[in-house]
Formats: sequence, structure tokens, C-alpha cells
Amino acid sequence: MDFLHYRNGQLLAQNIAITDLAEHYGTPLYVYSADDIVEQFKAYQAPLSECKHLICYAIKANSNLSVLSLLAKLGAGFDIVSQGELERVLKAGADPKKIVFSGVAKSVAEIKRALEVGIKCFNVESEAELYRINEIAEQLGKIAAISLRVNPDVDAKTHPYISTGLRENKFGISYQLALETYQKAQLLPHIKIVGVDCHIGSQLTELSPFVDAADRILALVDKLKAHNITLEHIDLGGGLGVCYDNEKPPSISALITALKQKLAPFPELEILFEPGRSIVANSGILITKVEYTKHQDDQHFAIVDAGMNDLIRPALYQAWMKVLPAKAPQSCDQSYVYNVVGPICESSDVLAYQRELSVKQDDLLVICSAGAYGFSMASNYNSHPRPAEVMLIDDQHKIIRERETFADLWRGEQV
Ligand code: LLP
Repeated sequence: MDFLHYRNGQLLAQNIAITDLAEHYGTPLYVYSADDIVEQFKAYQAPLSECKHLICYAIKANSNLSVLSLLAKLGAGFDIVSQGELERVLKAGADPKKIVFSGVAKSVAEIKRALEVGIKCFNVESEAELYRINEIAEQLGKIAAISLRVNPDVDAKTHPYISTGLRENKFGISYQLALETYQKAQLLPHIKIVGVDCHIGSQLTELSPFVDAADRILALVDKLKAHNITLEHIDLGGGLGVCYDNEKPPSISALITALKQKLAPFPELEILFEPGRSIVANSGILITKVEYTKHQDDQHFAIVDAGMNDLIRPALYQAWMKVLPAKAPQSCDQSYVYNVVGPICESSDVLAYQRELSVKQDDLLVICSAGAYGFSMASNYNSHPRPAEVMLIDDQHKIIRERETFADLWRGEQV
């Protein structure tokens, strides 16, 4: 969270006071730093500058059009998992030739549209999907470029809900069946095999699962070569963790350097990555206002205007996210150990447990590291309009998504 710091007791985001942003746009409010996003993206690009590569930002992490267009201008590719994401990223000005399409349940309409716009490749997750893509490509008179998403059966050592590379997970094609599935693909007239892909999970804080997965995938590349199946690219997915609390994930450059070494014997392969969180998580915050404090039965609640509808990570994954007051506490302020809770009628609606804070009604709090899987997972539960989103560009702030109105809540409904 390089763009956040206190000056004279005031919390600033890139020299703009949090209190000013809240006053200008209201709360709850998502705020992102363009500079931080650019810096993180460039951290992926720099160590790969001398190899053929494509960084396909996983747009599920934060799919605001401004974020996407910022990255498209830097030469990013994109990893999508739905037609909605495809339409978004095209709207943001992305080059279809830099889009890879992941996801286990691609529909006929989604495959058709992706073929029509000419994406780089489908990351195929099952044999049945392969046949469906072949059939639709035949109807359209096209050849579909595909890569198999292979499940390397590696323990990502992360939260079970965001672990994707184990045999019991629904994702990808089993490592044992990979060669056989490539051979079946080879026989399909409207399929062109171009790559191999894996993604083993998210918020990985150790290097070893990435390296183990790369070893297994590269062993497969050798095996495929021996069977006359040559590839153009290898996609090692996303998943690099960030620091929310005191985690110490490898840096982007340490990760890329380790994997580049593994890939050195395969100079013919273009290298793809699909990072999401590590590009945007620490580039964003959620500003929320304390509506009430409540002290009863030894419990202290800071009841704020953002809830699990705006930021579901703490409720869904027991995620710990740092909370900072917009005004630094004075030594004379009374503090309590609070549960920071939202307005939603669920006991799981807790943004942060057991935080020592000195806050009072109408104070502002900042939930840090909220740039990834924050707004993109927000909902209208309890009929709350979703927050506005603002981008900081140098010392300017710019609205990049209006706060939803009440009329937005029932758009398309009938009485
Ligand atoms: N590629 C594929 C195929 C994925 O499924 C994902 C994330 C990514 C790339 C990007 O992974 P990242 O670099 O962001 O870790 N909502 C959860 C995270 C779910 C991740 C799902 N897949 C959270 O808030 O922790």
C-alpha cells in the first residue's frame, strides 16, 4: 500500500486526504492508485523483457473498464472466464489476439463469440469442452486455437476455497489424462493445439508450489514433443499472493526469475502468466464510515456503512484485511478492541475482528488491500447500491464508476 501514508495525523492516498475523497464522493468508496497498478504490471514485464511473453491480467480480480484500459495501454493481455468479461475487455480497447479464455463451463454462445472476435486461445478444461469447441468452430468455418488447462495435482498451500490445482478440484484436465487428451485434440479438424496451461490457486505465499507445478508441466511438454505434439506457448497461470497482514510472499521478480530458469531449456515457448491479485490488491482501498459504535456485554462494535455485500473476502475466506483510521488517534483518545461490522443482516458480516481502534460515530476507516476481489465480488444484498469507484492519477482523482442509484437496484424488474 505504497500510496497510503499519514501526514499531520491525516491519512492520505497519494497526497489526497481520505476525508476529502469521502466528502467528495460519499461512502462506501473504492479508491485505486493508477501508479501502483502500472508499477505492479511492469514488475511482471521487466524480468521477461528479453523473452517472448504475454502477461494476461486475470480480469476477475478487478474488472473496472478504467483498470482494463490502463493495462491494455501497457500491452497487457487478458485472462477471461465469461462472455461478460470478454465484452468488458473489448469495450476497454483490448486486442482480442491477446485474450485467453479460461473457465470450466464455457457455453455455446460464449465459445461462438470468442471465435468470432478471434481470441488468442481457449484454455480447455475438459474433453467435452474440446469437442464442443471443435463443433462450433466447424459451423463457423474457423480453426480454434486451444491450450489444455492441465491440473498438475500440486498443493498450493492456500485457503481451500481458492486452491484449484488438486485432483479433487473441478478445474483442468487430470495430469494422467493430459497426453491422451492432447492426442484426441490432434485428431479434431477444427482445433489447433497451441499451448499448455495451469493455475493452481490464489494467494500463494510460497515459491515451491509454483516451481513444482512448472516442473510437472514441463515434463509434460517433453512427453508431448516425443509424441510429435509441439506447443507455441506455456501459461503458468496466476496466483501470486500479496501481503495483507504479515505474509511474506515472494516478490514478482523472484517468482519470474525462478520460473524463467526452469523455462530456459524451452526457448521456443512464449511464456504466459495470468496474474490478478498481485497487480491490483494493494493498489486499492475501501473507505467506509462509522455509523455507530455499540458497547455491550464486553463487546465493542464499530458498525460501518460497508458490509459483506461490498467486500466479501473476510466473510467468505476468513480473510484478514488491515483497517486504518482516516485520522491518526491522539494519545488521549479512548480505544477499544472492536469488531468492525457492516449493515447486513448476517452475523458473518464482519469486515475485521478484534482491532484496537479509537473511533466514534461518523469517523472514517480505510480497509486496505481491497483492490482485488473487492468490487468485482460486490453484490446488492439487502438492496444496497454498490459503491462508487475512483482512480487516483498522480494527484488527481477521477470517478471511474458512479455509485449505483436506487433505480439501478430494480432495473429490468417489473411490478
Ligand atoms: N487464472 C485463473 C484461471 C484463475 O482462476 C485465477 C483466479 C487467476 C488466473 C488469477 O489468480 P490471482 O493472481 O488473482 O491469484 N476471490 C478469491 C480469489 C479467487 C481466485 C480465483 N481464480 C479471493 O478473494 O481471495
